[in-house]
Amino acid sequence: MSKRLHARGQDATYVNAIMKVAFYDAKPYDEEFFDEQNSDDSLEIAFHSFRLSTETVPTANGYQAVCVFVNDALDRSCLEELANLGVKVVALRCAGFNNVDLDAASSLNIHVVRVPAYSPHAVAEHAVALLHTLNRRIHRAYNRVREHNFSLNGLVGHNMHGKTAGIVGTGKIGRLTAQILQGYGMRIIAYDLYPDTDWAGQHGIEYLPLEDLLPQSHLVSLHIPLSPDTHHLIDDEALELMMTGAYLVNTSRGKLINTRALIGALKRKKLGGVALDVYEIEEGIFFEDLSQEGINDDDLARLISFPNVLITSHQGFLTVEALSEIARVTCTNLTHFENGEPFLEGTVVTAD
Ligand code: NAI
Repeated sequence: MSKRLHARGQDATYVNAIMKVAFYDAKPYDEEFFDEQNSDDSLEIAFHSFRLSTETVPTANGYQAVCVFVNDALDRSCLEELANLGVKVVALRCAGFNNVDLDAASSLNIHVVRVPAYSPHAVAEHAVALLHTLNRRIHRAYNRVREHNFSLNGLVGHNMHGKTAGIVGTGKIGRLTAQILQGYGMRIIAYDLYPDTDWAGQHGIEYLPLEDLLPQSHLVSLHIPLSPDTHHLIDDEALELMMTGAYLVNTSRGKLINTRALIGALKRKKLGGVALDVYEIEEGIFFEDLSQEGINDDDLARLISFPNVLITSHQGFLTVEALSEIARVTCTNLTHFENGEPFLEGTVVTAD
């Protein structure tokens, strides 16, 4: 099939060519949903199972776009090499963009697009599933019963009804998480740099400064993006402010939490439990099968060893609905670029 890229200023370089996309950190489920979305072959996609980095960037030679995920490292040197190779678009198949040097991309005239909201329900539901599993020890009960151990010792949880949930970040995912937890009969308090007072008023939710939210919350659930301001937001000081015995749930980004501080808080039994879908250094571990070789990250190994820590491998987004939407938005954006049409509204990421 022959495709033409219409004039688009300095991007107008490909004539009579299908847009070629180098796809990194590809998993079988990615290929399945992107192949389905691209069933008319309007894009030529090369799926690579390895991640994009300064080491692997030569594999983008001959491609006009790269499609990346949360753990591909697009720092300045990687982006400079992408620009040298003629890559014009970085398509993130996720909402977060903390792994891309946006200043560098902008100065190199590389467009960065993302999928801002593929399914906030998927992540919110996963956050609550983690909380529920942690609280009622379902992960432990499941393993026991498989071993024909029907004892209940050590499985005592708490009613969620009547407890207070502190929602940190009330964007799309945080708001849905709050509303699901209200269904349990929890009182919701929230913290956000930009409070949504209309939503809070409609749902009877009170905004508080973080230092007031932490001591009042039986559960703290994190839903803010990673930025220089939010890096290690949950540190020794914040953990100390939390209610003794509280649960901490993080489905947002691992670096929001100082892992060493978290391990310390767990060791001194400050927290009742921790559920993580994200980890400070996921690269090379999350999404991989390391069951034969084990892991070299001693902090992660220590976290996994606590009976009251539950970890999933960044799977909050992993629903049919979310994967379909990620593929739809990403392929549409790439074909729009190919055809000289604007990117979908709200998907362009800029340095500002
Ligand atoms: P969103 O952009 O709708 O909401 C983020 C909220 O955080 C906004 O209300 C914003 O005002 C607030 N915020 C930003 N900076 C802040 C700061 N410094 N202090 C306090 N509040 C601040 O984002 P959405 O869609 O709700 O996603 C939240 C996060 O969830 C994403 O940034 C991403 O890291 C994570 N995520 C995780 C997934 C997973 O599979 N586990 C999948 C998708 C997103």
